[in-house]
Amino acid sequence: MSAVRAVAHANIALVKYWGKRDAALMLPSASSVSLTLDAFYTTTSVGLHEGDADEVSLDGAPLTGGALVKVERFLDLVRSQAAPGVAGRRARVASRNDVPTAAGLASSASAFAALAGAAAGAYGVALDRAGLSRLARRGSGSASRSVYGGFVQWRAAAELPPAEADLASVAEPLPSSPDLDVAMAVVVLAAGPKAIGSREAMAHTVATSPYFPAWAEHTERDAAAACEAIAAGDLERLGEITETSAMRMHATMLAAAPPVRYLAPASLEVLDAVAALRAAGTGAWATMDAGPNVKVLCAASDLEAVVAALADGGRRTVLRARPGPGLRVERE
Ligand code: PMV
Repeated sequence: MSAVRAVAHANIALVKYWGKRDAALMLPSASSVSLTLDAFYTTTSVGLHEGDADEVSLDGAPLTGGALVKVERFLDLVRSQAAPGVAGRRARVASRNDVPTAAGLASSASAFAALAGAAAGAYGVALDRAGLSRLARRGSGSASRSVYGGFVQWRAAAELPPAEADLASVAEPLPSSPDLDVAMAVVVLAAGPKAIGSREAMAHTVATSPYFPAWAEHTERDAAAACEAIAAGDLERLGEITETSAMRMHATMLAAAPPVRYLAPASLEVLDAVAALRAAGTGAWATMDAGPNVKVLCAASDLEAVVAALADGGRRTVLRARPGPGLRVERE
């Protein structure tokens, strides 16, 4: 069988996913809402070979250790759904991250969405978009959302028992008003000492943060409100929900024991700069993930003004992004 190539774009959550109710099935505690971006993406090609081990490379260098094990487990999941003739074959995986130099945004979302598309294709596992989203979720929760372009919701299906939620907890594209012409400014800050990864930090937050139940409850409501704002084309409302969700996510992890802190002094300076933009009449709202970088949602027509303000005369690196497309899969 020939190799299959897939391209998936990164997404940034506007209403955050933070915490699982079922770690094995990767079921989230609450629904999340995201925007897929054009500027950052992963291209992955998967072919089958006769060797006895999976070979995985990222940006030309062989993957090793825990990162390799994560990919092997994911390939095992794909193989468990493949026809007997190919299910025993090992894969050769070559992945490339297209992220502007030193952006520190290498994303597990685009990586596992691309791997899901390419591996399912290479092993002849026929999946529709929902099936691909469900498969990508098992690699990295946020990857379920990168199967679609633009605004996306990943439903928690928390009302269902885990075995049923496993089928229902997938992403879906959100109808958005044509008036909602958005962009994102990505402020790249020095990474500093490496904080813990999102998977471990999430589990630790669920286990030890007394704020976690409140976070999950409010997030489900925030996701519903964000969907309404997107449908109505209400950028101001969407922006407010976005910034609030990010601050609540960081609050719940700051309340873990010991605390998890991704907010750096430089991040707080950018949050102040975003608040100053708003005070001066420009619609701009900040969000942050498991790292110090700050992403700023704004109207496309305000992007250059937002980038100029946040770059602060060249003192900071600010990247521009617009809504991007969903997963593309092609045979090589
Ligand atoms: O899918 P993961 O394990 O990379 O977790 C993503 C967590 C956040 O980026 C912080 C939030 C989100 O919803 O993308």
